[in-house]
Amino acid sequence: MISITSQTPEWHDRFFAHVRMVFPEVDFMPWSRAGLWTERYDVLALVDRGEILATAGRTRMVLSLGEGPDSTLRTLREALQLGAVAVRPDFHGKGLGRALLQAVITDAETRDLPLFLFSNPDAAGFYEALDFRRVPSCRPMVDLEIPVSGTALRQAAHLRLDRQKDRQLVAAVLSASPSHQGGLSARPDLSILLFHLLDGSMTLHSFNAGRSLAITERKGQLLVIRDWLGEWPGNILSVLPRLIDPASTPVRRIEFGFVPPPNVIGPGLRYQADRKTHFFLRGMDAPQGPHCFPHLLRT
Ligand SMILES: CC(C)(COP(=O)(O)OP(=O)(O)OC[C@H]1O[C@@H](n2cnc3c(N)ncnc32)[C@H](O)[C@@H]1OP(=O)(O)O)[C@@H](O)C(=O)NCCC(=O)NCCS
Repeated sequence: MISITSQTPEWHDRFFAHVRMVFPEVDFMPWSRAGLWTERYDVLALVDRGEILATAGRTRMVLSLGEGPDSTLRTLREALQLGAVAVRPDFHGKGLGRALLQAVITDAETRDLPLFLFSNPDAAGFYEALDFRRVPSCRPMVDLEIPVSGTALRQAAHLRLDRQKDRQLVAAVLSASPSHQGGLSARPDLSILLFHLLDGSMTLHSFNAGRSLAITERKGQLLVIRDWLGEWPGNILSVLPRLIDPASTPVRRIEFGFVPPPNVIGPGLRYQADRKTHFFLRGMDAPQGPHCFPHLLRT
């Protein structure tokens, strides 16, 4: 068993190829090339004669815990988020996954660090077999129409990560951002945020003279606000028209990728059970919900 870190580049290409073989849609390469592999990420791997057979990635994070949707009093706790849990397909069902995760669990218990992860639905039984507990997740959303025509508002500026000044702006706003609300959240993390943004399907808007950033995705009449960094306006309704393309159809529903602060939406905000998210926790009890662990902090 070895630990692959930012300091062991001789293993990086083999790790990236292993992950791509098991999860064809996941590519660590752009993230690594952008210098985003920090000392807070390592990969425990089972290897045989220089070949990787199984991996489990660990990101050291700071959990932010509250009780209820608008808990201003929050507790911080160090934890490890697992990702890239992948056994080479020809070795499935032979106990390698259990052996590797058992090593991860023992190490985390020794260091008193809780473990958490987001599982794909097919692997949920694997984590249950290893005594991980499910955390019920929700999707915060509100039905309201954002008209697109007749608005004289300028669109918020779109940021581009290939521009250094835009990356610096994201880093600066993020470092001053508080954690989101809800039961289980975490301190913002630039490395994970940029991993998601490098995939290119989201739009990064800057407004309020660069003091607020919103990351959105459009799906027909739905606008998903995946993340919000920096200052919030007193009333979000004044800003939303600036986040949508005036040439598109109206938005009728907004979903948040996190629990938004109280009062920015109003009474229409509801928390719908999210049965598609398989959120697992081990080594601590979840506080009271609602739980919508920020989408762009998931690995
Ligand atoms: C899920 C995965 C990591 C499991 O590793 P593995 O080496 O095949 O699993 P093991 O042989 O060590 O099995 C350990 C236990 O988990 C159970 N288990 C394994 N895979 C399971 C699954 N998909 N669903 C339900 N239970 C599962 C086994 O029955 C076994 O139970 P037991 O020890 O009580 O008899 C592996 O199959 C894999 O890489 N799958 C593809 C990628 C993936 O889905 N990764 C998880 C991402 S969240």
